[in-house]
Amino acid sequence: MQKILDAILANELTEIGSLPVPAQYRAVTVHADEVDMFEGLATADKDPRKSLHIEEVATPELGPGEALVAVMASAINYNTVWTSIFEPLDTFGFLRRYGRSSPLAKRHDLPYHVVGSDLAGVVLRTGPGVNAWQPGDAVVAHCLSVELEHPDGHNDTMLDPEQRIWGFETNFGGLAELALVKANQLMPKPAHLSWEEAASPGLVNSTAYRQLVSTNGAAMKQGDTVLIWGASGGLGSYATQFALNGGATPVCVVSSPEKAELCRAMGAELIIDRNAEGYRFWSDEHTQDPKEWKRFGSRIRELTGGEDPDIVFEHPGRETFGASVYVARRGGTIVTCASTSGFMHSYDNRYLWMNLKRIIGSHFANYREAWEANRLVARGQIHPTVSKVYPLSQTGQAAHDVHRNAHQGKVGVLCLAPQEGLGVTDHEMRNKLLGQINRFRGV
Ligand SMILES: NC(=O)c1ccc[n+]([C@@H]2O[C@H](COP(=O)([O-])OP(=O)(O)OC[C@H]3O[C@@H](n4cnc5c(N)ncnc54)[C@H](OP(=O)(O)O)[C@@H]3O)[C@@H](O)[C@H]2O)c1
Repeated sequence: MQKILDAILANELTEIGSLPVPAQYRAVTVHADEVDMFEGLATADKDPRKSLHIEEVATPELGPGEALVAVMASAINYNTVWTSIFEPLDTFGFLRRYGRSSPLAKRHDLPYHVVGSDLAGVVLRTGPGVNAWQPGDAVVAHCLSVELEHPDGHNDTMLDPEQRIWGFETNFGGLAELALVKANQLMPKPAHLSWEEAASPGLVNSTAYRQLVSTNGAAMKQGDTVLIWGASGGLGSYATQFALNGGATPVCVVSSPEKAELCRAMGAELIIDRNAEGYRFWSDEHTQDPKEWKRFGSRIRELTGGEDPDIVFEHPGRETFGASVYVARRGGTIVTCASTSGFMHSYDNRYLWMNLKRIIGSHFANYREAWEANRLVARGQIHPTVSKVYPLSQTGQAAHDVHRNAHQGKVGVLCLAPQEGLGVTDHEMRNKLLGQINRFRGV
């Protein structure tokens, strides 16, 4: 592994394909025999530091259409939090099901799960049938793993019945020194970014792009008003940037003055601090309070000069969904990709049908959408939102921060990279964009 790392650090990438691949590598895992370890605890008390292990695992055999990547850096996504607390399901069920689908997929069904759905690194080996990528290519990987043997996925790969999120529903994820991906997950690493900066947008950037910008999502257009929940968080920090970059007006919802400041730093002007304004959309566990929806809607109108959101960018789920449906404009769109606070949503359907609103479900992104989202990063129009970076050995703490909502933007993880700031090859572009790249740093 050291020889591989030395070659990458010296930027001598052309010969990397001739270096031997180690039989083992360090990885962040959860264990199948520990899935009950948090039984009886409340979600908030389930601690990823206890369930995430750092250990040596065997390097998987490389199959057709695949690539083995030396991972320089990765990032924490909420799916790693879900995996680490075994909610709503433990992820070994996904691996077992995948393992039954083919002899090659059987490799994924192991008593440990290497987690992580982002990476920046260097291709070490490619399997048969891979022509677009070579050993030595500096890459990032999006997390759509798709088989595409079925007709359903051929208009939009997210509709393939054998579509999975790499490092969540498959093994050999990115929080490790090596990762196994399908070659059609690879995209060029933005040259002006360090490894940890390049690794951080992937999952959330692609998801926010499909959800907000793509015609498969809300198809945002210039002039739209977009209400963005968690606007300084993983998804929200990219949704805010897409709204601003695409000529829309974001109305950013956050929960602290520091988070409001981050939204201002991205260029947003209309910000609601949900904590300071004390919205209580639920009067008790079973009852929502429409007066609070209304108070929230009035605040949005006050900020926008009387306009209601064309699009509501949803992911908190149960706690906010009733309010989101209420405040969307007549004919507006509520686009959802998650349910962080609970997946059984309820809302008053009269506001939906009488006002001709639409609810759209969105999930990750197809290769084209992920590529377009990454291209915007590579062109310096959308920027990483890394606030803090941990070494691989402290991935549990990194996931704990995200679980407690104690982080800002994205939390990075160094895998093979010995320190932050390495891997930049376009210094001129970086220097021009340094202020934007570092907006979330140390907040
Ligand atoms: N389907 C997909 O493809 C996909 C992709 C990415 C993520 N997700 C899911 O999307 C969710 C968010 O992911 P993320 O990476 O953005 O997480 P994140 O970095 O934790 O950000 C989420 C933000 O949502 C806000 N929030 C949390 N609970 C809330 C509540 N009860 N009411 C209002 N706002 C709340 C918080 O912001 P404030 O405290 O500042 O308001 C938080 O910062 C997760 O459940 C994740 O699993 C799904």
